[in-house]
Amino acid sequence: MNDLDFLRRRRSVPSRLLAEPGPTPAQVDALLAEAVRVPDHGKLAPWRFLRIQGTARHALGELLAARGIERDPAAPAAAVEKDRHRFSHAPLVLTVIARLTPGHKVPEQEQLLSGGAVCFALLQGAQALGFGAQWLTGWPAYDPDIRRRLGIAADEAVLGFIHIGTASAEAPERQRPDPRSLLSDWTP
Ligand SMILES: Cc1cc2nc3c(=O)[nH]c(=O)nc-3n(C[C@H](O)[C@H](O)[C@H](O)COP(=O)(O)O)c2cc1C
Repeated sequence: MNDLDFLRRRRSVPSRLLAEPGPTPAQVDALLAEAVRVPDHGKLAPWRFLRIQGTARHALGELLAARGIERDPAAPAAAVEKDRHRFSHAPLVLTVIARLTPGHKVPEQEQLLSGGAVCFALLQGAQALGFGAQWLTGWPAYDPDIRRRLGIAADEAVLGFIHIGTASAEAPERQRPDPRSLLSDWTP
């Protein structure tokens, strides 16, 4: 398989299909080292990582279930259970957090894009190590209470929870856009 074939085979593995074993500490170090190589205009490193693993995943699930009911007291039991188990499947979740510098000559949009690239780099890195991964946000990424519990500052943004583990089943492929339909030529 050449490098482009590898990239062409990229796909997410839904988090509910991610199981033990997760990456070893050395593999996590390698993943992070690869992820911080993303293009970063101005060398601002406008991102940081928050690792959620082990029993912390279940504790977070309990917080989500409680907060979900607080947000919607009429929430169906199935939705509450889904929240409870959001972080229970994959053994490792790497949260990518943007910390932007407003007013910098590098526009905030570019700083944010660099963080998006970090998320994607983690997906690719995980796949390169033989793991499956999925980039998720959902309401917990934006909820003020959950953000506070996670230690996310008011001027920070959760760009993604990158769930990483061993695929317990083959991930379904989804239809991809036809790139030719998205391409046009600029004619002066
Ligand atoms: C910023 C961002 C947030 C996402 N959040 C969710 C999410 O909360 N729930 C979800 O089902 N998919 C979410 N996705 C989509 C999945 O990461 C993934 O793209 C999808 O499962 C399709 O798989 P694919 O990566 O093979 O196309 C998100 C994608 C991005 C870029």
